[in-house]
Amino acid sequence: MDKQVVKVGLMGLGTVGTGVVRIIRGHQEDLQKQTGLAIEIHKILVQNLHKTRSVSDLDGRITTDANDLLYDPEIDVIVEVIGGIFPAKDYILTALEQGKHVVTANKDLMVLHGGEILQKAQQKGCDVFYEASVAGGIPILRALVEGFSSDRITRMMGIVNGTTNYILTKMSQEGADYEEVLKEAQALGYAEADPTSDVEGLDAARKMAILATLGFRVPMNLDDVEVKGISQVSKEDIAYGKQMGYEMKLLGIARRDDDEIEVSVQPTMVPASHPLATVNGVFNAVYVHGEAVGETMFYGPGAGELPTATAVVSDLVTVVKNMKLGVNGRGMVAPYKEKKLKDDQKKVSKYFLRLIVADQRGVLAQITQLLADNDISLDQVLQQPYNGGQQSEIIMVTHHAAKSSMDTVLAALSDMPVIHELKSCYRVEGGEM
Ligand code: HSE
Repeated sequence: MDKQVVKVGLMGLGTVGTGVVRIIRGHQEDLQKQTGLAIEIHKILVQNLHKTRSVSDLDGRITTDANDLLYDPEIDVIVEVIGGIFPAKDYILTALEQGKHVVTANKDLMVLHGGEILQKAQQKGCDVFYEASVAGGIPILRALVEGFSSDRITRMMGIVNGTTNYILTKMSQEGADYEEVLKEAQALGYAEADPTSDVEGLDAARKMAILATLGFRVPMNLDDVEVKGISQVSKEDIAYGKQMGYEMKLLGIARRDDDEIEVSVQPTMVPASHPLATVNGVFNAVYVHGEAVGETMFYGPGAGELPTATAVVSDLVTVVKNMKLGVNGRGMVAPYKEKKLKDDQKKVSKYFLRLIVADQRGVLAQITQLLADNDISLDQVLQQPYNGGQQSEIIMVTHHAAKSSMDTVLAALSDMPVIHELKSCYRVEGGEM
């Protein structure tokens, strides 16, 4: 290859785009030593040419016309950090059509249209990398694809949404209400004005679909992920969890047992001694269990200008190294295993239950009988007066139980006159199996 400089078309100059400019400029010498080529940001697509920016020397490089990047024959790589599906998808497909490699931070796009994009990339002999789409600065996708290539991953558990982890951490540490902490997180810019995607677990579900696809080598869709968010979690749930030795986390869980898979995101009780329980604030972590390696855990910032930009620029380095070797588009391994999803009988975990019941003889016996009839045994029970002693509050943690059995129990509990309210039911994960 006679090129001395690789030219990049950067689409988007928001938080991540600005970080990409800073890292490429600030680390130029190291990048050049590693790749053997200089990396230059040739053109940048922005929405507003006249906006004040925190990076300088952009004269002549910024444009509002995507075609200035997509059809510039000098540009080798398009870095897409504008987000969303439209027009990002069209831009990426056009870039590939033009023989340009693509680095993107766009998880929504990769979850919904990754198959089509990767197929087009393969046809055109181009690279597409998307490390920044999951857990920002943690190089987890490359770890799954390359670091664990010799192993068989059986379990991944992820705290992959910083907003919800910030909220749950504050609720736990300060005994605060969900609504109160959400407002504070919005004021600090940690939560969006419309927080639905984060607090209802949708952002985490997209990330878990990507992790499961790469970790298990199985093509997972967003619809394959069961999702429940944190908007119904109360400070009482968290306080009782603590009293029984747990921290509440919004946990993405991907498990493979006998080649059958389950992937979910839900508020989960994690033993306080588990490393995931100590991941606080906006930090992310992904726990990976492999048949051969055993337990590993990756921890770091899940968002932010420079952390996310490191993931984008590292992808860029891989593209450039591949260009030098002339192997772009050839390293991709499409998911090659058949997708078999578990039914609810095979989804097994411990459960945390909180009930308000009539304070009368035999109620606990009725509940434990119902659990026993459904093959569920109890691990811990806590009972105390509720509502000035007119009712009782029962908090229990079960041993491992099938989801189908627990659903039967929950339906039966809501039909029992002595059960006044089923306050909450959460999975308990991270203990021994
Ligand atoms: N909104 C995400 C989070 C960051 O709170 O972790 C981007 O994926």
